[in-house]
Amino acid sequence: MNVLPKKRKRSLNSSLSSSSSIELDTTKLPAHVAIIMDGNGRWAKKRLLNRINGHEKGSETVRTVVRTCRQIGISYLTLYAFSTENWQRPKAEVEALMALLKKFLQSEQKEMVENNIRLRVIGQIHRLPANVRQALEQTMTATRELTGLNLILALSYGGRAEIVRMVQSVAEKIKRGIIEPDAVNEELICEHLYTLDIPDPDLLIRTSGEMRISNFLLWQIAYTELFVTTTLWPDFSKEEFLKILKDFTARVRRFGVV
Ligand code: FPP
Repeated sequence: MNVLPKKRKRSLNSSLSSSSSIELDTTKLPAHVAIIMDGNGRWAKKRLLNRINGHEKGSETVRTVVRTCRQIGISYLTLYAFSTENWQRPKAEVEALMALLKKFLQSEQKEMVENNIRLRVIGQIHRLPANVRQALEQTMTATRELTGLNLILALSYGGRAEIVRMVQSVAEKIKRGIIEPDAVNEELICEHLYTLDIPDPDLLIRTSGEMRISNFLLWQIAYTELFVTTTLWPDFSKEEFLKILKDFTARVRRFGVV
């Protein structure tokens, strides 16, 4: 759904947390933040640790960022947790990532319910191990009616694969005579993506300094503001997140219009 973000009614400079000295204009915050969480491996290597230790520390950062989004009233947070390309990593690393994901879901479900957080998933869910799918289904069901933060995990997700899937389903409908080729427009395309009822990201953050999109939300980020930090994901803090959000609130978005 590529609509312009709606203005939300919130008082200016409302206090965020007692631990933060950063003042944010909460009326200008992004409705949807997407994050490419990169640098777990390098974080571990710098400490002569196993890459899996980096992912473990990275899960703690996930908790911090989710909590911060909830506290300041962000509506959507999409995390690139596992890409279609990540299946090519060593088996032990893939298994460890899946185990971490399951552990995260089990340990956070209660907090999600208590804090009005709805879990959603985008990506090729059918490729995930049965026990992870089960944990996801369970948490999604338990949080389905919740109306606060939407936490969207991109799992076995690839932007190109999402576009291929969309084209296949639109082509199938044309073949069956359900839609005319002339009816294909941007809105129809959006309705056939995983993100059909999710607004486009306003802000995309990438950690670890790489200047790449890495096949993430290719259609959806057409007018998204980008922010790349050299901080490795396990070191990414609430303080830095708030500074990036402050930077965002000062940006002028023109959406191609003067
Ligand atoms: C990229 O770092 C990170 C990933 C491929 C996985 C992200 C996973 C987590 C943060 C933990 C589990 C997720 C959740 C939602 C609980 P990298 O391994 O590519 O790092 P490198 O580029 O330094 O090697």
